[in-house]
Amino acid sequence: MKSREQLNSWQQLTQHADHMKKQHMKELFAQDGQRFEKFSIKLPSILLDYSKNTITSETMSLLTQLAKECDLEKWRERMFSGERINSTEDRAVLHTALRDRSYTPIQVDGYDISKEVERTLAQIKVFSEDIRQGRWKGYSGKRITDIVNIGVGGSNLGPQMVTEALKRFSDHTVNVHYVSNVDGAQIAEVLRPLKPENVLFIVSSKTFTTTETMLNAKTALKWLIASSFDQSAIAQHFIAVTANKKNAINFGIAEHNIFDMWDWVGGRFSLWSAIGLPIAINLGYDNFVELLNGAYDIDCHFQHTELSNNIPVILALLSMWNCTFLGAQSQAILPYDQSLHMLSAYLQQAEMESNGKSVNWYGETISYPTVPSIWGELGINGQHAFYQYLHQSNNIVPADFIGSVESVTPIQGHHETLMSNFFAQTQALMQGVNEQQVRADLIAKGRSADYIDKVAPHKVHQGNRPTNTLLMDKISPFTLGSLIAIYEHKIFVQGILLQICSFDQWGVELGKGLASQIESELYHNNIDLSHDSSTWNLLMHYQEVKSNDKV
Ligand code: F6P
Repeated sequence: MKSREQLNSWQQLTQHADHMKKQHMKELFAQDGQRFEKFSIKLPSILLDYSKNTITSETMSLLTQLAKECDLEKWRERMFSGERINSTEDRAVLHTALRDRSYTPIQVDGYDISKEVERTLAQIKVFSEDIRQGRWKGYSGKRITDIVNIGVGGSNLGPQMVTEALKRFSDHTVNVHYVSNVDGAQIAEVLRPLKPENVLFIVSSKTFTTTETMLNAKTALKWLIASSFDQSAIAQHFIAVTANKKNAINFGIAEHNIFDMWDWVGGRFSLWSAIGLPIAINLGYDNFVELLNGAYDIDCHFQHTELSNNIPVILALLSMWNCTFLGAQSQAILPYDQSLHMLSAYLQQAEMESNGKSVNWYGETISYPTVPSIWGELGINGQHAFYQYLHQSNNIVPADFIGSVESVTPIQGHHETLMSNFFAQTQALMQGVNEQQVRADLIAKGRSADYIDKVAPHKVHQGNRPTNTLLMDKISPFTLGSLIAIYEHKIFVQGILLQICSFDQWGVELGKGLASQIESELYHNNIDLSHDSSTWNLLMHYQEVKSNDKV
């Protein structure tokens, strides 16, 4: 098997990158009036404009050739058909089956998982409606008014990002809260205004071993029992979503209150499963189904559209172009829609936990840059914080601008101002402004020659900063489902192009193991001498200050 770097297209792309590094997008736009038509894709409710990248038709054709040489189409089929493409964990990767609205039978380990999906969806429907309509009662016979989702990472970020994004679609019959951090400050703050008799806890943990989640769940349990004075209240106030039924039962959760998770769904791709219960309860089951519909729509687009016109494929190819070939080290996610305020946090886990790796499928060290670090913030807030860096620093940060044509919260004038900034920023990042233009502007403003000499270099914007624009018609359960699925498939494609095992996360284990060792040392006040001097001294200082505080 050829390494990626030996592929014909890879070598051509390396040479082509040297040439393109000397090009300015402004010139490329001036030379080609058809750039937008060539480098944009329109779906019924989402438009991707990727013309503001340092690309030409030759770039895109070489990148598409690379995707073909990497057998992307075959890998795509292997994923959708349930092959065990998560090779390090020997598992299938089938989050797409969770939203397959055609319920195509797929065999995993000898059983048809589409039936499992259908059964669980029916369970989610009944359960969420029971809660919303007040049929499910708390220990004192009162209805549930608040749910608290206890979970972290993939068992938190997806549902929280979605319920935040779709707040406008909630009728507030049942409020939703999230506890992810083991810092007691969070659970204390969440529980403070709530009454135990009205609260349902959803303990979401695929493994049901995650220390932080288990501790938060125990604290919640104590809080409930302190109010109900009765262990049996657990059955009305605790449910679990997990692939580890045994641990959930040992924890004290009634078996009939446990929703299944499966090993063919990765935690960070699980919001479409019962991990999405907070979504169904808070927004109603129909909205949850709309979210699935939107994702399914993109699954069909991704599966059946030619590579050169395929949004997730194009986004992955561009990420690789900017990062591996042009050397960008980070990527910004910049939503211009308040509802997407958690999107960058969500995508950080999705992309960085999936592809932030440095060995390939065969365990060999990868010698080229793989994926960028992902960060971001709501666009307008970012403009008044870090956009200075985006425009003028000597690090190029490619950015995804995400906005909506129509606001879900129309207040006169607001959306126009917001979106004017949205369009202006990508134009400014692309065009920049050169010294000649700066000087002409200052002269026109009547500035002195001395002032102009001093200030002009500081006002120059090099431009040529790549951006993608994703413009949705309007945020809705459907379009949000589509948006998330676009990024999920982008991440899958990146993994194939880079030969990265995208569906494991061994990199989180080392720290977890050490934390549990250190916790035991702190607990027994017995700091191990084998720690490096930095860690040892930090631990000793911590213990010393703590014991002084106690005196
Ligand atoms: O530590 C990382 C991780 O394993 C994520 O991959 C996962 O989403 C999160 O922890 C939570 O895991 P679980 O759902 O098993 O509690």
